[in-house]
Amino acid sequence: MRALSFNQVLVGLIVVTALMAMTHRAGMWGARPVPEPPPPTPAAIAFQRAEAERAARAAAAAAEQARLQAATRPAEEESVLAEGEGRSETFAYCTACHSTALIRRSAFSRQRWDELMDWMTNVHRMNPLEGELRTLIVDYLARHYGEREGQAYTNPFLNN
Ligand code: HEC
Repeated sequence: MRALSFNQVLVGLIVVTALMAMTHRAGMWGARPVPEPPPPTPAAIAFQRAEAERAARAAAAAAEQARLQAATRPAEEESVLAEGEGRSETFAYCTACHSTALIRRSAFSRQRWDELMDWMTNVHRMNPLEGELRTLIVDYLARHYGEREGQAYTNPFLNN
C-alpha cells in the first residue's frame, strides 16, 4: 500500500471540514438552537389579563382594609374610667350612646350629676335610672368626676 501524498491529505481534510460545516449547519449534530416559543393564544392573553386584574383588585381590597383598620378607633374598655365602686355599672349604663369622654371631661357636683341623669332621660331618651343603681352610679360619678377646685363646670368639648 502506497503512502498518501500531501495534496491527497490536504484535499481529504478540506472535504471533511466542508462536510462537518454543512451537517452542523443543517442541525445534524452539535448544540441546536432553542426554538422560539409560540406566540400566546388569545385565550392565554385573556387569562393573563384576568389574572392581573384579579391581583390588582386583591391589592386594592387589602389597602382599603388597612385604611379602615387604621381609621377605626378600638372599642373603649372599662378601665378608661377611674377605678372604684360602681365603675362597671356606670360603664355599662353610660356607653350605650356615647363614649366615656363626656364623663371623663366633666367635673360636676353630685347634685348636677343627679340632674344630668334626668336630662339624659328627658332629652336623650335614656332609660330612666332609678333606685339603688342610680345611687350607685351618681355616687361613683360625683366621687371620681366631681367638682374640681375653682372649676365648677367644664365644657366637655374643650380640652381645658
Ligand atoms: C340614651 C343615650 C344616652 C345614654 C344611655 C347616656 N347618655 Fe349621656 N348624652 C347623650 C347625648 C345624646 C348627649 C349629648 C351629646 C352632645 O351634645 O353631643 C349626652 C351628653 C352627656 C354629657 C355631657 C353633658 C354636658 O352638658 O356637659 C355627659 C356628662 C353625659 N352625657 C354623661 C352620661 C352618663 C354619666 C351616662 C350614664 C348614666 C350617660 N351619659 C348615658 C345620650 C346618652
